[in-house]
Amino acid sequence: MTTKIIGKVMAIALCVSILSCKGDHEHKYHTIKDKIEAETVPYSGELSSDVYNETIETVLVKEEDGTFLIPDRKSQITSFNCTECHSEPLKSLKEQQVGKKAHWDIKLVHADAKTMNCATCHTGNDMDNLHSLTDQQIDFNYSYKLCSQCHQREFKDWKGGAHGKQLGGWAPPRVSNTCVNCHNPHAPAFEKRWPVRYNTQKVEERK
Ligand code: HEC
Ligand code: HEC
Ligand code: HEC
Ligand code: HEC
Repeated sequence: MTTKIIGKVMAIALCVSILSCKGDHEHKYHTIKDKIEAETVPYSGELSSDVYNETIETVLVKEEDGTFLIPDRKSQITSFNCTECHSEPLKSLKEQQVGKKAHWDIKLVHADAKTMNCATCHTGNDMDNLHSLTDQQIDFNYSYKLCSQCHQREFKDWKGGAHGKQLGGWAPPRVSNTCVNCHNPHAPAFEKRWPVRYNTQKVEERK
């Protein structure tokens, strides 16, 4: 009787061990992400996107988990250098200003007024640079560092190449659009719009 039971238990144990042996290499990692990270081999072949990237003026991004390029911004901002006008304190500039505000075309539609105003990102003492919440200087070319303070999830996805858009070629070095290439920092949400191809039947019905 007992030998019968022991025999059964051993048979079950054997089955279990065979099954688990089979899947063992797959269980080395807790998640798919761990597996990808451990088994990814950086590309080291001959192909290069340099010829495709040539036309884009770029700056280098160095983050602990990756190095890539983003387009230069300072050459694109028409009112840069800011210190052409902001050579004196904001207070005295405001006192001198008559009529329309200097930046009347900029309306802040980003979070609410209790969370954010111009001084959250710009500072009168050093207008040619952006500033973090802890008053660290941030170069206009690296404005993603500003955004990442509050949008960590998108920032992490962007570093990995999942949020945003790659420019130039697919082979390294990688060039990616930076946050402000797509989002206006002053009004970052996109307007709702209809897909380019939409249901013409629905349009008829709405008439
Ligand atoms: C052509 C001149 C000019 C340039 C260039 C300029 N500014 Fe200004 N800016 C002003 C004046 C004048 C004021 C203050 C009077 C006002 O708000 O109308 C001002 C005000 C501001 C304010 C405060 C607004 C407020 O409502 O409190 C911010 C922030 C600012 N500027 C940012 C910038 C940044 C950043 C740049 C560069 C990218 C820049 N400015 C370039 C003229 C300029
Ligand atoms: C969330 C951070 C943030 C806030 C808040 C913010 N800015 Fe900016 N601002 C930026 C960034 C980033 C750029 C550079 C964008 C780029 O690279 O094109 C910029 C660019 C500018 C420029 C130069 C570009 C242009 O359109 O002329 C001016 C002027 C400016 N900001 C003024 C202001 C004023 C005035 C306010 C308040 C009403 C304000 N900003 C609030 C982040 C901010
Ligand atoms: C000080 C914190 C802070 C900073 C810095 C900041 N944001 Fe935001 N952002 C917010 C908050 C808060 C909201 C509103 C979130 C909501 O309504 O759910 C928001 C909203 C947004 C949205 C709209 C989300 C939606 O669809 O409603 C986008 C896009 C965005 N931010 C991008 C940026 C970019 C790009 C930068 C850098 C130029 C930036 N943010 C910098 C706090 C910040
Ligand atoms: C190639 C263009 C592009 C780039 C670059 C880009 N974004 Fe976006 N982002 C988008 C689009 C498109 C959406 C979706 C908007 C929607 O659903 O209305 C989005 C959505 C968002 C949202 C709202 C997410 C939500 O759940 O509603 C935030 C916040 C945001 N982006 C922040 C950032 C930050 C921070 C960066 C830079 C680190 C960045 N984005 C870079 C195009 C871009």
